[in-house]
Amino acid sequence: MTDSKDRTSSNEQPWTVLRLLEWTTDFFKQRGSDSPRLDAEVLLAHARDCSRIELYTAFGQEPTSEERVAFRELVRRRGEGSPVAQLVGYREFYSLKFRVSEDVLIPRPETEHLVVEAIDHAKSMQSVPIRVLDIGTGSGAIAVTLAKYLPEAEITAVDCSEAAIKIATWNAQQHNVSDRIRFIHSDLFGALDAEQSFDIICTNPPYVSQAEYDQLAPSVRDFEPRQALLAGPLGTEVVEVILREAPRYLTPGGRLIIELSPMIADACEELAKGQGSYTEIKFIKDLEGHRRLLSMVRE
Ligand SMILES: C[S@@+](CC[C@H](N)C(=O)[O-])C[C@H]1O[C@@H](n2cnc3c(N)ncnc32)[C@H](O)[C@@H]1O
Repeated sequence: MTDSKDRTSSNEQPWTVLRLLEWTTDFFKQRGSDSPRLDAEVLLAHARDCSRIELYTAFGQEPTSEERVAFRELVRRRGEGSPVAQLVGYREFYSLKFRVSEDVLIPRPETEHLVVEAIDHAKSMQSVPIRVLDIGTGSGAIAVTLAKYLPEAEITAVDCSEAAIKIATWNAQQHNVSDRIRFIHSDLFGALDAEQSFDIICTNPPYVSQAEYDQLAPSVRDFEPRQALLAGPLGTEVVEVILREAPRYLTPGGRLIIELSPMIADACEELAKGQGSYTEIKFIKDLEGHRRLLSMVRE
């Protein structure tokens, strides 16, 4: 897809939408992308300012030279490892669009399980309003989605990154839920009032160990914030603090839901049991059958 190939010579085929997609899919495949065709479609749709579906009815069309220039640049950066979500500036989570940048973790589909668990628990509760705390809100994916799907919830969302808080605030505004989310720049529970209490505390904290971090794909390690991923030498460090501190902020019968990796599931279960304040400690598995959430109730 070089300049010289941009336009046809007499015996060369034109660079139609379909041909661009096929060439780029192949290129991304060689570069080790897990989803080469999807990446190509999202980037070409972005360059053409249309939806992915619209590409399907435009396979035979030739993008304009401006669109091709924009697409070529996106393909180059994706080829160098930039995540597609950062290139287009957003990611869908729970069918909602979230702005992302290099300052926030790109929301992952696994985290939708956490949202489902929190919504299920909230719907089983009698009290109104339901007070929710989201620790490590990042793009605001969890907090904003819960606010959207639980109109009776009042949400507090904290993050130690000011840049993340700005993006989360922007996402809350876009989804018209800013009036029910209080964003606080805080080291875990540090900036919360001691007398505050919550019915649900949910968190997708950093849970990657140093050894795992060193092995992460460059497209994650080199492009997403280290403090969103790396917990410390063991991977359990942040979870451990949350398990220790959360009982002070949970109402009796309140639920704590923590996303984790299967690698640290056993260790986190031990920590939760050893804490002595929790009951109904259970795992929830993701679609691949991995233990992905640890959910428990404060006694
Ligand atoms: C794995 S990301 C989760 C982001 C978002 N909740 C999501 O699920 O997409 C972890 C987040 O926790 C934040 N974080 C890390 N350490 C923290 C701390 N000590 N206090 C508050 N937030 C922290 C990071 O800045 C990051 O935004």
